[in-house]
Order: sequence, then C-alpha cells, then structure tokens
Amino acid sequence: MLSMKITPAISINGTIELPGDKSISHRAAMIAAMASGETRIDNFSGGADCSSTLTSLVDLGVSIRREGTSVFVSSVGKTGFSSAGRPIDCGNSGTTMRLLAGILAGQEFESVLIGDPSLSKRPMGRIVKPLIEMGASIISENGTPPITIRGRDLLRAVEYRSPVASAQLKSCLLLAGLNADGVTTIIEPVKTRDHTERMLSWFGADTTSEEGVEGNRVSVSGDSTITARDVAVPGDISAAAFLIAAAACLPGSDITLRSIGVNPTRTAFLDVLSDLGSSIDVNDLSEISNEPVATIRARFAEPKAKRVLILNGRRISGLIDEIPILAVIGTQLGGGIEIRDAAELRVKESDRIAAVVENLRKMGASVTEFTDGLRVGTSRLKGARVNSHGDHRIAMAFAIAGLLADGETVINGAECADISFPGFFEMLRSVVR
Ligand code: S3P
Repeated sequence: MLSMKITPAISINGTIELPGDKSISHRAAMIAAMASGETRIDNFSGGADCSSTLTSLVDLGVSIRREGTSVFVSSVGKTGFSSAGRPIDCGNSGTTMRLLAGILAGQEFESVLIGDPSLSKRPMGRIVKPLIEMGASIISENGTPPITIRGRDLLRAVEYRSPVASAQLKSCLLLAGLNADGVTTIIEPVKTRDHTERMLSWFGADTTSEEGVEGNRVSVSGDSTITARDVAVPGDISAAAFLIAAAACLPGSDITLRSIGVNPTRTAFLDVLSDLGSSIDVNDLSEISNEPVATIRARFAEPKAKRVLILNGRRISGLIDEIPILAVIGTQLGGGIEIRDAAELRVKESDRIAAVVENLRKMGASVTEFTDGLRVGTSRLKGARVNSHGDHRIAMAFAIAGLLADGETVINGAECADISFPGFFEMLRSVVR
C-alpha cells in the first residue's frame, strides 16, 4: 500500500492537459465494439477503470490495440460478442459492470461479471430489474456482484421510469435497447450525464432526449445502425476539479487546463465555485466528437460566502463526483458547507460520506454526519494521517486538503488515484509552489 506525503502549498500555478475523461472513454470503447468497422479513440483515459472495460471487451472477443493514449477497437457488431468462458473481471469499475451488463443482456450466451471487494458491495438491483423486464435472465444474490446474465439477441423494448438518478443505469438500458424489438425509453428523475446519448448519436444511432415535468426522457431505437467513427476524448473535468479546487483555495494561484470536457451535465462544480466568487474563465469553446471542450482558467479570489453554502435536491446529481472535494473546500468558506440528498455517495467506490467525515475530523475540521450528507464548519486544517478507503476521489480530495493544511498529511492507500488519474501526484507536484 502506497503512503503519500503531502506538504502545505503556497499556491498552484501552470498550464496543463489532463487525461481523457473516464466516463466518455468507457462509452467510446463499448459503443465502438458494437459498431461496424474499426474505431480509433484518441486521448483514451489511462485509468485502471477504463482498462477494465478494454480487458472485459477483449475477453468477449473484441480486438483492441493500444498505442500510447490511442486505442483501436475492431467491432464485433451489436450481437457478435462471444462468451468469455470465465468470469469477466470489472475490477473497481461500476461503469464497466453496469454498462457491459446492458450489452450482455443482448447476447445469446451466459456471462458472469465479477469485481474487486469494493465493486462486490455495490448495488446492481437497479440494473437487474429493468434488464429482466427486457427479457434477459439475471441472477445476482443480494443485488450485488457477481451477476450472471443469460442474454437473448432480441430483447423487449420497454419504457422504464428509473427511481434513481444514475447515468450508469440509463446507459445500461440504452445499450440493451440497441438490441431490442422497438424503441426503448428511460425516464430519469433528473438529467444525468448524457455522454452515452451523445456517443450513440456520434456513431449514428437513432436516439432522442427531452426534458419535461416528469423528468428526462431518453430513447433509442433497436433498429439503429451504428458505424465506426473516430473519437477524441476530452480532458476529464472531474480530474480537473481537484486542481480547480486547489486554485480556488490557495491565494496567488492561477492554473490553466486545456481541452477539458465542459458538457453541461458535468459543469455544476464550476458554477458553484463561480457563485462563491472564484475566478473561473471558460474559453476557446469548441466541440470534439459531439462533446463540448474548452480551456478552463481558475484563479484564487477571496470567497464571498459568509453564510453556510447549502447544496441539495436536484443539484446533487450534477455534482455527485465532486462532493468529496466540495466538502474539503467547505472548510475554507466563511460559513462552511452543508450537503444533503446525497445518500448515493454511500454506495460509490467507498462510503464517501463516512470516508470524508472520518478524514476531515482527523484533520481537525468540525463535521456533522447525516444519513444523506454532511455539514462542515469553517476549519483550519491540520496535517494528519488519512485513509483513501481504496477510493480514488477520496485520495485526490485529501491530497488537496493536505495542500491547505498546517503540517504534513499522509494519505494511506494513495495508489488508488490510478483508477481515474494515473500520475496525479506527479502532476500535482509539478504545479504546486
Ligand atoms: C458515471 C456515473 C455516475 C458517476 C460515476 C461515473 C458514469 O455514477 O458517479 O463516477 O460514467 O456513468 P451513477 O450512475 O452511479 O450515479
């Protein structure tokens, strides 16, 4: 287990590019595997999660070649996958397991999906129920992995109202819908990240999406033909969030991040920081492979908030991956921060509410834990030995906390940053003063 030492910083400064977006990389590889022809994907995430997607696809008969950060995927077609003949290991990656389950529901053989101890605790009932409605046979004891899927090559098209705001669930059903006998529709309570919809239409699928009073209604036609088309993956805005947070909290900071994905379903974090008075400029806006990208410049500015900042309700889904770092930022705000309606955080790579509460307390912050969130008071952080709980976003959030603290912080289990951001600590060292 890697213990990483973090010492206090004065500021962060520099211009950098970040690894390819994790969510978009997963989708590009999976949809390319189903499309006809060979797809080249540039700036593919080097994170371990996206490697789990590639190895799982290879196990299922897809030819994949990696050259640097480019990945070449030779498709097998929508129903052309072949049995792996052994359990498919999705590692730590919930996205791999949930999205792949959608593809496997439409293949006429049996597959078993397994994961590491963290993934083995995560809820799969949310995908199992609708996939069974679509005609797949699935066994998942206690609603957690391993899951055994016996698919069929023509599923039933359904209209499914999702009880949870989950992009992974939506994406699972859209991928299953590519092999259904009509139009599959999912209605999600709030619009979640829409990378699957965008990637499907990039590859030529027939998809529609419409936000209304009942929620966000997304459909895909089972008749869709999808054809190989090269993809360039934008830089990962959820990785950028850690650096932007450091810039927002350390006086004198000025950091420029190039070619970052600024899909509106992912930028709520920037809005929160701008509302707090941070100087965030989004420039050079363009589009690559159906996704908006931009240069983000973040500079320190004295935070405006004097009262507690409350984040709750419909806003949470757009901030879900940034909540650990927002809790850290909360220690630096005039009135602290309160986060509610975020019980989903308890079923991420770790129980992120418990992990953040434990680590912030170790660093001397005043924290109240709720079932669905936490309240963090304005606190002067002191260096401490904290635990990543094997969760990449916890490791990176507390690296930033360490930059803001007095004295040395040690992160136990820091190697898990590689799940989404290999080289995170080296990159951080290169911009810290
Ligand atoms: C993801 C969706 C979110 C997010 C995760 C990546 C995706 O999970 O937290 O990091 O790529 O679809 P949920 O769908 O469970 O909310």
